[in-house]
Amino acid sequence: MLVLAVFVAALGLAAADQCCSIEDRNEVQALWQSIWSAENTGKRTIIGHQIFEELFDINPGTKDLFKRVNVEDTSSPEFEAHVLRVMNGLDTLIGVLDDPATGYSLITHLAEQHKAREGFKPSYFKDIGVALKRVLPQVASCFNPEAWDHCFNGFVEAITNKMNAL
Ligand code: HEM
Repeated sequence: MLVLAVFVAALGLAAADQCCSIEDRNEVQALWQSIWSAENTGKRTIIGHQIFEELFDINPGTKDLFKRVNVEDTSSPEFEAHVLRVMNGLDTLIGVLDDPATGYSLITHLAEQHKAREGFKPSYFKDIGVALKRVLPQVASCFNPEAWDHCFNGFVEAITNKMNAL
């Protein structure tokens, strides 16, 4: 059974890996670097807030999930800290795009964390993908939608498979 699970997981990774080519990873990492560089530290939270605003516009039902982190006051320290945790999570995922084994371990951890949240649906990762595609082209001049889609869709596929298997 364990062997089968590892095989299925490896297949999922391989599929995601195939889509997000070396060229795509380089594009995505360069894009992220331009957003994440030291001189943009203050911007990270602003961009994170924009992403969440877009998420709530795309799927207003998701807002309720964030009551514990004071979503009612999105400028509160609790929500601010939440936004930073998610942005840092995204940064870590993008940083290991060329290390699929570590990426898969991160995805497994994220899948477990999100599975534990009552009311969470894996399809919300697609919603945040739409939000990201609305915000990132506005804040980076080198946004390559194809490269982004190849890598982000691979992430969504891998985490959805993982969550469904948990
Ligand atoms: C790229 C996508 C995402 C990343 C990298 C990400 C990352 C994270 C991280 C790192 C945490 C903190 C985990 C912890 O410390 O326990 C977290 C918590 C959470 N995330 Fe996500 N997340 C993503 C997308 C989403 C989406 C789309 C939703 C729902 C629409 C969501 C809902 C939540 C909730 C409800 C929590 C717990 C908040 C609390 O502390 O009460 N996440 N996420």
